[in-house]
Amino acid sequence: MSWQAIGIFDSGVGGLTVLREITRALPQEDTIYFGDTARVPYGTKSPETVSRYAHEITSFLVRRDIKLLVVACNTVSAVALSGLKRQFSLPVVGVIEPGARRAVEVTRSGRVGVIGTSGTIRSSAYTRAIKRLNPDVEVLTRACPLFVPLAEEGWIDNQVARLTAECYLHELKQAGIDTLVLGCTHYPLLKPLIAEIMGPDVVLVDSAEETARTVAATLADKHLLRPAAEKGNNHYYVSDIPAGFIRVGNRFLGGRLGDVYQVDLEKDREEC
Ligand code: DGL
Repeated sequence: MSWQAIGIFDSGVGGLTVLREITRALPQEDTIYFGDTARVPYGTKSPETVSRYAHEITSFLVRRDIKLLVVACNTVSAVALSGLKRQFSLPVVGVIEPGARRAVEVTRSGRVGVIGTSGTIRSSAYTRAIKRLNPDVEVLTRACPLFVPLAEEGWIDNQVARLTAECYLHELKQAGIDTLVLGCTHYPLLKPLIAEIMGPDVVLVDSAEETARTVAATLADKHLLRPAAEKGNNHYYVSDIPAGFIRVGNRFLGGRLGDVYQVDLEKDREEC
C-alpha cells in the first residue's frame, strides 16, 4: 500500500525546525519539504509577493499528491494562510494558530510577548489569533529581524547574539510578560539564549512543537495517519543550488538531511 506524504514548505532552511518536530511526533510519515532558497528571506517582503510565492510552492507540492500541507514559515502563515485554504482543497496547517493556542493556555498573568520577522509582526496575525482565543490577553510584540542571519550563521551564543538579543528583548522583559512566543522558524535555535535573558519566570512557546501536535491531531481526525510500522522517507527540494541548504540545514534539522534536489517551479508547472 502506498501512503501519501505530508508536504511542508518554508522560505528556506527555517522550516526544518518544524519538520524536525513533525518527524519526532510522526516518524512513520513520508514528508516532502520545499525550501525557497532562491527567494529567501520572506520576512522583509510584501504580503502580495509572499502570497504569490506560497501559491506557486503549494501547487508544486499538490502536484506531488500530498495529503496535508504544513506552512512551516511564520511569515507565510501570517499573510497567506487563509488564501491557501481557499484556493486548495486539502488540509492546511500553519504555525500561528498552534503557537497562539499554546500561549493562551500557559499564560497566568495574561501578558504575552510575541517575537517574529518584520512581516509577521506587521501583520498582527499572532495578536489577532491570541485575541480570538481570549480577548483579555494583552499581547506585546517585537520584530527581531537580525535573529534570522544570526541563527543561519550559527551565532547563537556569542557576544554579538547576546547583545542583539538583549537589545530586542529589553522592553518585553520590562513589560513583565510571563509567556513569549518564538514566532519565527529560526528562533528555536536561539532558545537557550532567549530563555537566559528572559529569566525563569517567562515560558517560551515554540511554534514548531505546537504545530507538530496540530498536524498529528488533524491527520488522526481525518483518518489519514500512516500506521506506525516502519520509518517514513524524507524528501527535500530547494529552488537554488543545494550546497548552502545542506550545510545550514543539518544544524536546523538536528541530524543529517537526505538527498536535496533543485527544482525550477516554473518548468515543473509546465511539465506537469
Ligand atoms: N521562515 C521565516 C519565518 O518563519 C524566517 C525567514 C525569512 O524571513 O524568510 O518567518
